[in-house]
Amino acid sequence: MIEYILVGVVMTLLAFAWKKNSSTTEINFPPGPEQTVVMGNFKDIDTERVHGSLHKISESYGPITFIRLLSRNIIVLNTTKVIRKAFTTPEFREHLNDKSKGFYGTYLVYNHADVLLGPYTKTTFKLKDVMHRGLKPCMAPKQVEKELKLLIDVFKRKKGEDFVLRGIIEKQIAEVTTMLITGEVEDGDAEMMWDFVNWSNKLLNPSMESLLKNLPFLRYFPGKPGLLYNTAREKRDKLLARFLDESRTTYVEGSQRGLVDTCILIQQTEQKAGRESWLTDDMIKALILDTIGAGLVSTTNSILACILNLLHHPECIKKMKTEIVKILGTSTLPVIGDEDRLPYCYAVMLETLRYSSVVPLVSHYCSTKDVQFEGYTIPKGTMIWGNIWSAHHEEEAWSDPWKFKPERFLDKHGKMVSKENPLRQNLIPLGIGPRDCVGSKFAMVRLFTYVTTIVQHFDIEQPQDCELMSCDPNLYTSGAVLQCRDFSMRIKS
Ligand code: HEM
Repeated sequence: MIEYILVGVVMTLLAFAWKKNSSTTEINFPPGPEQTVVMGNFKDIDTERVHGSLHKISESYGPITFIRLLSRNIIVLNTTKVIRKAFTTPEFREHLNDKSKGFYGTYLVYNHADVLLGPYTKTTFKLKDVMHRGLKPCMAPKQVEKELKLLIDVFKRKKGEDFVLRGIIEKQIAEVTTMLITGEVEDGDAEMMWDFVNWSNKLLNPSMESLLKNLPFLRYFPGKPGLLYNTAREKRDKLLARFLDESRTTYVEGSQRGLVDTCILIQQTEQKAGRESWLTDDMIKALILDTIGAGLVSTTNSILACILNLLHHPECIKKMKTEIVKILGTSTLPVIGDEDRLPYCYAVMLETLRYSSVVPLVSHYCSTKDVQFEGYTIPKGTMIWGNIWSAHHEEEAWSDPWKFKPERFLDKHGKMVSKENPLRQNLIPLGIGPRDCVGSKFAMVRLFTYVTTIVQHFDIEQPQDCELMSCDPNLYTSGAVLQCRDFSMRIKS
């Protein structure tokens, strides 16, 4: 109850703030739907499916659109061309790659001490480099092979019965993510991680994040926002006690078991040289949270989306199998680098990343000065959202954008089109420019080798005891990462 009274008070204050800011109406903003006085464009945005609402707006108003949510001015970039121009060209890159402060980053991620939500500074890029180094042990061919053998064992046990795939992939990717962070897996790690992720997602829901950003003191009050915040914080602390505190106690000088060891080594090297380390404990904690928050859900759901797309397209499974058997045979496992030898399989991965686009928006960007962009003004402090969802389903860039067609990425000889080909250039599932995805190689290797191995070793098909869930990504549940609903499948015995 109390939060609703407070919301009313703040609405009034925002109305004053809006009136004060109403000079913004004279600025040459891009086009967008009409706004109401206090709420702006909340009426046009389905907070459970923000990317879908933005896509509709882009269909009416074009590649660059403008909306306001409460007091926040937001420019939305809806095609790869304008996203690329804003985030990568020297003219704009330096002014449009900062990240805006939000409730989650401030109160859960140690005041934006991480990479994903961190500012556009040298320190953030040093942290990005630490993450790259920490990821290396998980890219070792032996590690990937171990994961694939584990996956085969689990699948073998499922032969001849309908089963739900989600739990298997969630567990395996959570365990690999634990390996990535600490170098070893303990019972209960996977559950603890997913528990934290699920509570965080509730807090990251756009309407909740927006409410708490405007009224951060609600975290101290009883009621839903306070409950979500306090529970997510409790889950976070439990996770960090396991991943950071325990790793410190078992750390042996020079060991490189995973990301945390990489961080401890950096700290100790500097301390030995008599300097206080630039890498603080809060930063290490924030990097762990990034690895889980940015990596776990996106990788898991990309793999699930790919299998679901395949189950709906048995002709694609057949083509993949023919290619795999011809190149690898029936038992040699795929390895990193096999993408070139298996172009059809790789095309299936790329088409999944386009069609399903599980990360539909990049939404925390913010301008650091007034910028003239494509004939419009982006004033300092404006939020900038890259709408990957629209970029990947734009009629002009993709023929039949709502169809799953891996062949679109192959030339007439069945070879993968070059990276310079406009289609590949239009594909940006892992972000673009200086703030592109740290875990892109990790994620692509898992997606490619896991799905290829499953198709190589098993005859996968639709379930027999129930109908297969639709693969239409418009029906996925929403959030920062889209998730297909749980679906059953079957392996022929
Ligand atoms: C298929 C899986 C994945 C997808 C689709 C994906 C997608 C993305 C996208 C679109 C961005 C840009 C976000 C932005 O501009 O705000 C991004 C950034 C990022 N990703 Fe991923 N990601 C995946 C896997 C991973 C993994 C496995 C990790 C870590 C191990 C990771 C860590 C990060 C981090 C830290 C950033 C922020 C980079 C920066 O701001 O400089 N991601 N990812």
